[in-house]
Amino acid sequence: MPSRSPLFLITLIALLCSVSLSLAAQEALPAAAVIQSEQWDAGVALPQVEDLNPDPDILEIELSAAIHEMEIIPGKKTPVWSYNGGLPGPLLKAKLGDRIIVHFTNLLPEPTTIHWHGLRLPNNMDGVAGFTQDPIAANGGEFTYDFIARDAGTFWYHPHINSAAQVGWGLYGPILITDPGDSPEYGDDLILMLSDMSLDAEGQFLPVDVGGGFGDLFGREGSVLLVNGKVMPTLKVRQGKQQRWRVINAARTRYYTLRYKRAPLVKLGGDNGLAARTQTLDQIKLVPGERADFVFTPPDAPGTESKLRWYPTERGYGSTFNRFAEDMMTIITVDEPAVIPQTFAETLRSIEPIDITGAVERELNLTIGYDSDDNVVMGINGIHHDHAVPIETHVGATEVWTVRNDTDFAHPFHLHGFFFQVLDDTRVPEWKDTVDVPSKTELKLAVTFDDRPGMWMYHCHILDHAEIGMMGHLHVLP
Ligand code: C2O
Ligand code: CU
Repeated sequence: MPSRSPLFLITLIALLCSVSLSLAAQEALPAAAVIQSEQWDAGVALPQVEDLNPDPDILEIELSAAIHEMEIIPGKKTPVWSYNGGLPGPLLKAKLGDRIIVHFTNLLPEPTTIHWHGLRLPNNMDGVAGFTQDPIAANGGEFTYDFIARDAGTFWYHPHINSAAQVGWGLYGPILITDPGDSPEYGDDLILMLSDMSLDAEGQFLPVDVGGGFGDLFGREGSVLLVNGKVMPTLKVRQGKQQRWRVINAARTRYYTLRYKRAPLVKLGGDNGLAARTQTLDQIKLVPGERADFVFTPPDAPGTESKLRWYPTERGYGSTFNRFAEDMMTIITVDEPAVIPQTFAETLRSIEPIDITGAVERELNLTIGYDSDDNVVMGINGIHHDHAVPIETHVGATEVWTVRNDTDFAHPFHLHGFFFQVLDDTRVPEWKDTVDVPSKTELKLAVTFDDRPGMWMYHCHILDHAEIGMMGHLHVLP
């Protein structure tokens, strides 16, 4: 037999490959050619608040806080503290540059305020009771918040008075500021606001100080996991059809590690919209207060049902030992043919490093101690918030803060009013307002105080820790 030339073999293989490729191409449509399946987010999407202002560049709304009975545990009634009767509060959605006006009424039995977590607004709109405004009185007090959305991204709102209790009882809601310039290839937006609630078997709240000093020290993780206020809601996806998940950790204490069968999650950014470039991860960690914005590409075959889970996350003593994954949401991959995911650029945004030449340096130690009655107290540089003297700085100043954590627990560090950059070359550059400081570590962050003078807070966003003193204030002078 004459031996076949190698050229013949290569031609044959190439021919076979192109036949099978074109067969596959005939079957699978590109993701852009299809829309999400009918009712895809109906089980989980949040209602959007009614815009009372016809001007397309103004979002003007009415918001009220009141106690509403809701069924969180089947068959039981829970007296949820709620914005506009929902859990979470309604989604505030606006475009970059829009003006947002919120006419707020407090129908709760105690004073409250609203803090707009992550938004760069004027100091008198920041919602910190006793520092930027008076508490809004119980049983009918009113206040109007009015500001411009200066950054695109995923943000949230919550009270800033008796916060561990009020947030834990249900007062939190999402804000989405869209950037019309964002690539549609990232997929359809889905807001997922994660939290937990401390309920007994009858659906009643456990006491705010449950667990006493140990509860303060560890922080209180709720027993019931909620995604957009629901226990185990259902999301429908189609294999290969991307969704842009904007996840917010609104829990009082709980850290979240999210993963879905180790499917790649392409992180776009977080606290302040897009990061400098994409990052492909198989899990994403979110500390309280933090946001993550990523592309989820459904990996399962049509007709599959599976769970998105919470995984134990290391944040100090007892946080992972003997704890197991918990289900959070059901994901149904619809019985429609898979599509080929869209691609998009790895480079997302140019983020210039803050120039730190001549920056003022400060050290902030996150501290835990005991008072004379042996109660746990927390502080910054050993000082409880009530006794702290504000840091003084001025508009235009750039500072480098070393945030050091020698304690046995991790602390999510949050700064109001300004975005910072973490000085760490191993991280993808991005603007942050909340960052984890793991136990026995330190990090350096750079921040420039732009044109907004006033008294701003910084604190641990484990609200139980903030409540017992791990908070300080910063006076930005004009
Ligand atoms: Cu979301 Cu001072 O906090
Ligand atoms: Cu803390």
